[in-house]
Formats: sequence, C-alpha cells, structure tokens
Amino acid sequence: MIYCLCYISKKSESLDVEGVRSIVSTSQKNNDAKEITGVLVEYKSDFLQYLEGDPVEIYKLFNKIKSDERHYDVNLLQYSPLENPLFSGWAMVYRDLDRLDSVDRDKYNQCIETIEVINEKRSFWKGIKAIEILSNLIDD
Ligand SMILES: Cc1cc2nc3c(=O)[nH]c(=O)nc-3n(C[C@H](O)[C@H](O)[C@H](O)COP(=O)(O)O)c2cc1C
Repeated sequence: MIYCLCYISKKSESLDVEGVRSIVSTSQKNNDAKEITGVLVEYKSDFLQYLEGDPVEIYKLFNKIKSDERHYDVNLLQYSPLENPLFSGWAMVYRDLDRLDSVDRDKYNQCIETIEVINEKRSFWKGIKAIEILSNLIDD
C-alpha cells in the first residue's frame, strides 16, 4: 500500500534560485533511491510539496523536511493511502508558478487559484486538489 503526503510551507527569505535548485537536485537523487515520487511547487512565498511512496519512508522524509531551515510554517495537508500514484516515474517534478509564460500561466491558473484558496481560507483539503490539477498538466 502506498501513501501520499502533502504540505504547504513558507520559503525562507534567504532562499534564492540557486538554493531551490539544490533542494530539487538532492530530492531527485534521494527520492529516486527510496522509490518516492512527487512534485515541489513554488508559488510566491510558498512551497507546496506532494510525496507518494512507502508510508514510513515518506513520513520519515517529511520529518526531516519539516526541520529544514530553508522553509518554515510547515502545515501538513494530507497523509493518506493512495490507490494509484499520480507521479509514477517522477522522483520530484519541480514547477515554479511565478515564472510561467502566458500560455503556461493560463494552463496553470486553476492550480494557482487553488493554492491561493489554501492560503486565504486555510482550506487544507484543497492541497490535493491543486496537486491533482497539476498532475494532469505534467505529461503535456
Ligand atoms: C521545501 C523542501 C523540500 C524538500 N524536499 C525533499 C525531498 O523531496 N527529498 C529529500 O530527500 N529532501 C528534500 N528536502 C531536503 C531535506 O530537508 C534534506 O536537506 C535532504 O534530504 C538531505 O538530508 P540529509 O543531509 O539527511 O541527507 C527538501 C527541503 C525543503 C526545504
């Protein structure tokens, strides 16, 4: 049985583009070794991350990520069993929703709106909604 885990957090002020690049490359390497897949989304001051894989492995990873000083205010949105992985074969997809061209901006708009609702209304269940929307755009 695989599980998914989703959280939203705030980026640390000191984190720059290089810093995020380094997180993504470490994540791809480590997650690949642990058969963890998922996506890291950057939008304004937020990270939205979704992980899927062995329940113990992804929870252990979440605990490590939670104490990482490159972000703060980490809020767990979801940790639950999953029938079918959404990001099979993708150790860690990365999307920066602040740097989309206008075509992509239209494509990702629904996902962006969903992240904004999470922030405004603390509607945590919307986390998975945003991820599902995103997973449908990945193969395009
Ligand atoms: C927003 C964010 C997302 C991260 N995602 C992952 C991830 O998916 N996989 C991973 O191995 N590390 C991830 N990390 C990095 C971990 O916190 C940690 O630095 C890294 O796993 C190296 O740990 P180690 O020194 O114990 O090997 C993330 C860090 C941040 C700030």
